[in-house]
Order: sequence, then structure tokens, then C-alpha cells
Amino acid sequence: MTDTVWPDLKNDKLMYIDQTLLPNEKRVCECCDLRQLYGEIKRLAIRGAPAIGVGAAIGFYAYETRGTETDAKRFLRALEEDGEYLVSSRPTAVNLAWAVKRMLKAAKSAENGGVPAMKAALKAEAEAIYNEDIATCRAIGEHGAKLIKPGARLLTHCNAGALAAVRYGTALAPIYLAQEQGKNPRVFADETRPLLQGARLTAWELAENGVDVTLICDNMAASLMAKGEIDAVFVGADRVAANGDAANKIGTLSVAVNANHFGVPFYVCAPFSTIDLECPDGGSIIIEQRAPEEVTTMHYRRMMTHPGAKVYNPAFDVTPAELITGIVTEKGIFKGGELANGK
Ligand code: MRU
Repeated sequence: MTDTVWPDLKNDKLMYIDQTLLPNEKRVCECCDLRQLYGEIKRLAIRGAPAIGVGAAIGFYAYETRGTETDAKRFLRALEEDGEYLVSSRPTAVNLAWAVKRMLKAAKSAENGGVPAMKAALKAEAEAIYNEDIATCRAIGEHGAKLIKPGARLLTHCNAGALAAVRYGTALAPIYLAQEQGKNPRVFADETRPLLQGARLTAWELAENGVDVTLICDNMAASLMAKGEIDAVFVGADRVAANGDAANKIGTLSVAVNANHFGVPFYVCAPFSTIDLECPDGGSIIIEQRAPEEVTTMHYRRMMTHPGAKVYNPAFDVTPAELITGIVTEKGIFKGGELANGK
């Protein structure tokens, strides 16, 4: 399994796979510029909550390390401004703000040593965030794999796999671990309109890693559940509120409603970096609105509606805690109301 984002520590660069080109091309790109980083996150070249956080941390260090400022106070002020700008690239995935906050804290704690010490602290923190993500996703996988029986038929929505983190992913981590354990799970991947992360990314990475995967259109999931052909649903999250309400890719809510109707367990897999205890409930989560062209065209190519049609294109929806069977984290499996005990 190759990484999605990683640091080039020798040359102080962020390396990443451009996810907009998959599955047709696996292009490795590099970045050490703040505006480029903002653009790559916004256009989903770097996407998926954990990957956005790790990519932002590495890209931030790569850019800031190149600056010529020598005064520690002015350097810190610039870091704060740049961090605020970067966080505004995508509002829903809390991992972005979480990672920038960690980077700023690391720089501030080295302020007495001057700018060189602050730059060293930024580099060390970015490397730590990268390494922690790998261990965290593996731990999510270990806890979640216990919920998977041999030959289980599982449904997932969007892409919360290796491509959405550094490695393993969140919702797909239990599936990869179950595969490693010889349980041979079978996965149904929702294609996930409008941007087809399920078709382009989830089906691609599962197939590349030898997992049995069947691609379905989003509107086919309920009929599979009605026929008793889904044993459990595993999805990721972009932000989980303190009460356990979870924001994830648009369409997740209808999967949860269907799963509850048909008595299928519905699990949200997320690291604690995605859990926002300052956010009381799902109603307080800002939902990103995206360009109409994502809906009016088939993956930006061909127009497939009348140009006069209005478009509603929220990138995420919120699944209420009562529809979630369990939240699988690196520290174990929680119910919505119990999250504060784990943080
Ligand atoms: O708009 P995207 O592709 O960044 O949305 C991604 C999702 O909704 C994922 O399910 C979520 O970030 C969890 S990734 C482990």
C-alpha cells in the first residue's frame, strides 16, 4: 500500500498523489507553496479528512521553512495569518484546523530559540502528525476488524480508505485488517455522486489491494439491504460533534436511514482528530457548498442538464447519533455520548 501524502524531509517538500486524476493516472506531485497547497486542497487533489490534515501540516512546514523572516514575533504572526488562510480552503473537515493548530502550538513553544528553532519545531511536528496518522488508522482497523465476520458483505460510501489518509484509511482500515486476517470481506462501494469518490477511488484502491469489491450506483444500496445482502455499513467522517452526530460525504445520511430501516449495523470510523468536542451537535457543523458544475456535468466533462436548472450541491450531510451503531476510533468503539471520555 503506497502513501497518499508524505514528507520529503531532505528537500522540505510535501509529496502527494493527485486524486483528481485517479483511476486513470497515478501522478505524484510536490508542493512547497502555500497558495498551491490551498488550491490543491480546495480542488480535492488532496482530499479525505485525515489526508487533508496531514497534507496541510507537511505543506505548511515546507512553505514556512523557506521564508526569510528572522524576527520570531513577526514569524509567528505570519504563521498565524497563513494558518487561517489555509484553514479556509475547506470548512467541514476539522482535521485541517486541528493540524494547523498543532503546527502553530509547536512553533510557539520554540519561540525562545528564535526562527531557526521554530522552523525545526514545524518540521518535527509535521513528521509526527504524518507518523501518528499511520498508527492511528492501523488501530482503527484493529478495533473495527473485530466487527467483521468471515465473508461479511459490507457497504461503504465515498472514499475513507488509504487515499483519504496517509495509509489504511478509516472506514476501509477494518476491511484491510479483516482481509489480512483471512476473513475475505466483500465490499459494495457506492459510486458517490457528484464527484464519484466511491467509483474512482474506493473501488480502485480495494481492487488494487486484492479486496473483493462491487461498484453500485448510490440509489442501489437500499435494494441490497432489503434483500438482506449487506451485513454492516462502514463510513468515515469529516467532523464528529460532541453528541456523536457525524458529518460525512453527501449521501451518507440516506445510507444511515436505510441501514436503520433494514436493521443493518451502521459504523462511523474516525480518529480523535476528527472529533470536535467544541462543536455541540451536527447543527453547528458548517457544510461546504461546492460548484454547480460538479452536478451539471459528468465529472466536469459533458453537460447533462438544461443550463437553466438551478443546482443544490452540499458536499456533506450530517447523520444523527441515534442512527450510528458505534464510532470506531483508535481508542476503541464509542457511542455518541461517550466521546468526551476518550479525548
Ligand atoms: O470531499 P471529500 O472527498 O474530501 O470527502 C471525503 C469524505 O467525506 C470522507 O468520507 C471523509 O473525509 C473521511 S476520510 C477518512
